[in-house]
Amino acid sequence: MVTKGILLVGGKGTRLAPLTNNTPKPMLRVAGKPVTEHQIIKARNSGITELVLATSYLAEVFEPYFGDGSEFGISITYAVEETPLGTGGAIANAASQLKLRDDDSVVIFNGDVLSGHNLDDQISLHEKSNSDVTLYLTKVQDPRAYGCVPIDQQGRVQSFLEKMENPIADTINAGCYIFRNRAISQIPIGQVVSVERDTFPKLLSEGFNLFGYLDNNYWIDMGTPHSFIKASKDLILNPELSTATSGVVNDSLIGSNTKIHPTAQIGEGSTIGDGVQIQENCIIYGSMISSQATIGAGSEVRDSYIAAGKEVPPNSKLIGQIIGG
Ligand code: GDD
Ligand code: MG
Repeated sequence: MVTKGILLVGGKGTRLAPLTNNTPKPMLRVAGKPVTEHQIIKARNSGITELVLATSYLAEVFEPYFGDGSEFGISITYAVEETPLGTGGAIANAASQLKLRDDDSVVIFNGDVLSGHNLDDQISLHEKSNSDVTLYLTKVQDPRAYGCVPIDQQGRVQSFLEKMENPIADTINAGCYIFRNRAISQIPIGQVVSVERDTFPKLLSEGFNLFGYLDNNYWIDMGTPHSFIKASKDLILNPELSTATSGVVNDSLIGSNTKIHPTAQIGEGSTIGDGVQIQENCIIYGSMISSQATIGAGSEVRDSYIAAGKEVPPNSKLIGQIIGG
């Protein structure tokens, strides 16, 4: 049984600026809820009862929202890094808060990934193979921005090649690992360590057993503004991807105190925040309109993000745009 987990939510989310200037990437809302909340519910649904949030950048915003986790049906504690320890250092630091025996396993999530992968199956494979680490892998067309992870026919990981220019396989690290504590113990405590660049290569060279769990269901890393907008749209249009999504009506999520003109068309996974005004003859598809924003009459907004309080002039045409932050 795997009942413990760690969420890596301490990164700076630089590529998402200005959206991440005041909000850490994992707290950005997709389909109306912080990414972290979608992940917590996924973990809970697969039997995780105890989670540590490994925080650093804007660490103070997580606890007021998630508290001790009881509202979310799970126990949550926080491991704060005064200076970021990297993904590996964060794992070692957070794991020291879980009382782990050598044979215990922990599920570790990158904090910016949303997936429809079968976590129960990943856990089963981990237990069946008795591996030291079981990595969720997925296939992508262009693996250069990810960890390239070639596996053999049995699913054994051959190597771990973070962000290589000429990837040698199309299977990539999808950012959810199950680590046996004996593998976590290999990470030095209190140092900056990259799990991708330091820990995985070291474990492989020392003969630890690393298995890939290949799952080609829905997967997205919301590291860029466009993938963030897409993630929200996808979750609204496919509510089965996350049981944390609620309140979808006509393929959209509409907040409270909005003024939407009856001639406006809204859909394709849009989110309309509280107090938003949408004037006559607007078309809003696949977009996120943040609270108190106004969209002027006759505007067309597709696959775009409008920050809180912005006023979009009448007859604007915004396609794939980020307005404000
Ligand atoms: N606590 C803590 N401390 N968390 C961190 C730190 C840190 O110092 N650095 C990064 N993180 C968290 C981020 O918040 C994020 O949730 C996760 O670790 C991964 O960091 P990213 O910055 O999003 O990495 P990436 O997207 O470039 O690459 C990673 O994810 C890919 C899949 O989405 C790697 O794991 C790749 O191998 C992988 O393919
Ligand atoms: Mg990422």
